Amino acid sequence: MKTIYLYLFPFILFVLLNCSTTQKVTNAPPIGVISDSALVVSAHPLASRVGVDILRQGGNAVDAAIAVQFALAVVYPTAGNIGGGGFMIVRTSEGNIDALDFREAAPGLSSRGMYLDPENEVIEKLSTRGHLAAGVPGSVDGMVKAHEKYGSIPWSQLLQPAIDLALGGFTLTEKEASGLNRNQEDFEKYNTVVPAFLMNDWQAGDSIRWLELGKTLERIRDQGRDGFYTGKTASDIVAEMNRGNGIITPGDLANYQSVWREPITGYYKGYKIISMSPPSSGGIALLQLLASVEDYNLKAYGHNTAKAIHLMTEAERRVYADRATHLGDPDFYAVPRDELLDPTYNRQRMASYDPSSATPSDSISAGNLYKEEREETTHFSIVDENKMAVSVTTTLNGGYGSKVVVAGSGFILNNEMDDFSIKPGFPNLYGLVGGDANAIEPKKRMLSSMTPTIVEKNGELFMVVGTPGGSTIITSVFQTLINVLEHNMGMQHAVSVPRVHHQWKPNVIFYEENGLSSRVIKELMEHGHELKARSPYGRVDGILILPGNLLEGGADPRGDDTALGY
Ligand code: GLY
Repeated sequence: MKTIYLYLFPFILFVLLNCSTTQKVTNAPPIGVISDSALVVSAHPLASRVGVDILRQGGNAVDAAIAVQFALAVVYPTAGNIGGGGFMIVRTSEGNIDALDFREAAPGLSSRGMYLDPENEVIEKLSTRGHLAAGVPGSVDGMVKAHEKYGSIPWSQLLQPAIDLALGGFTLTEKEASGLNRNQEDFEKYNTVVPAFLMNDWQAGDSIRWLELGKTLERIRDQGRDGFYTGKTASDIVAEMNRGNGIITPGDLANYQSVWREPITGYYKGYKIISMSPPSSGGIALLQLLASVEDYNLKAYGHNTAKAIHLMTEAERRVYADRATHLGDPDFYAVPRDELLDPTYNRQRMASYDPSSATPSDSISAGNLYKEEREETTHFSIVDENKMAVSVTTTLNGGYGSKVVVAGSGFILNNEMDDFSIKPGFPNLYGLVGGDANAIEPKKRMLSSMTPTIVEKNGELFMVVGTPGGSTIITSVFQTLINVLEHNMGMQHAVSVPRVHHQWKPNVIFYEENGLSSRVIKELMEHGHELKARSPYGRVDGILILPGNLLEGGADPRGDDTALGY
């Protein structure tokens, strides 16, 4: 007999322990879904429902992930996509692990200075808006490859729910309605054929249909990758490029291939961490952060105390400096992976850590190794009845990507080119800087921060986690792991509590508004830190294996994220 029940206790305890006049908990719904069999946690209730339906039809976690990816492209156009890319970590029921890179690639006609004017200055918005901002999309090929290797039920069955949502229509949530409204001007400005079906004063509860997208999904259903990378869809993309001065060619599309890679693995206090390898910086940076704090007693320091935040900030400062210099697409740049992951190296980096004062970021640069990386992405976590686990982070980069809707095919193109270092030291959309390792080259993949992660305890599946959030992805996953592994939080609790972020440059600790007490803020300032409040960020969606083999879903209350299971 399958059971689902509401899991209120940890949240209530958390509220009682943490609320004060100066500290407010984020508006977390006090519910964590617990299941004894299978769970799907994604950014949208309809997408989570699609995933659960596929699992109930006998699909495995990868089948469900593919169906969720396509459903999100319809119901969560902010970040769900077929015109973007992403990364997937798989852990099979037998414990085998795999990593799929379906990151976008730079078009063959791209070049290092393509976003610079004759004076070598960055041309405003060229890498973030419009046709030239788009990389060659990887999501459809990624899903095809995932299905070829791990799929257990027919491909067409995985596409059908998304097609039904697109053609039949679905109801907008308040957040999605306001997202569409905020972007009306950009949709008008950056499209050569204004997407009339998106132009409206949207209200929560309105019904919307994506008819051209539905037809595109039918082509993908019937022809697999050819339904996207050749034929009508490809012709529509190329025609769009021709009208809007973009550079993606038929050859770029026909030649795009996603790649199976070796995941990044490492240990934190006996827990095995499995995460994404380059061209994402996520896995390496996460392991570096964990190695940097492993020698300290974070549990005793307590959650979000000045002492804990100071330590984690100092680790982040050093690791993000490394990211800016040493990480890029491994097919184009010799990423010093082993050196960066060496615990001795990370310990040495922390040798200059002073428990009582902040290290100025200008005094930190990338380590010398022994040998001479508004934020919208989306994450979903799935565990099936056989404990096969899938962790997927996928993106258009900014909200609604480049804002370009491919006329005739009805989907939004990414603006992922901005994740390259478009000029050495020039901050991207997320304030991240970079250099040669992440410079633009034809066919190269731009460095990502996406950190889809799976954790094992004693050789068994323990946690599946990830989040959107641009540069904050890595530190949000880091904190969620520390919340569970050191502070004994449950999954819902761990994803709900306020988060803090530092990325070396700018030299500022960002904290969610009302997320830190004035006492903690004062202590950190006394240590020499600059702090800035910001709006809530990230949508961490995770699954934790509880004693008794129950699954707890943590759905981030900052969005429409929903955990569903059986
Ligand atoms: N576009 C955000 C990232 O890949 O990190």
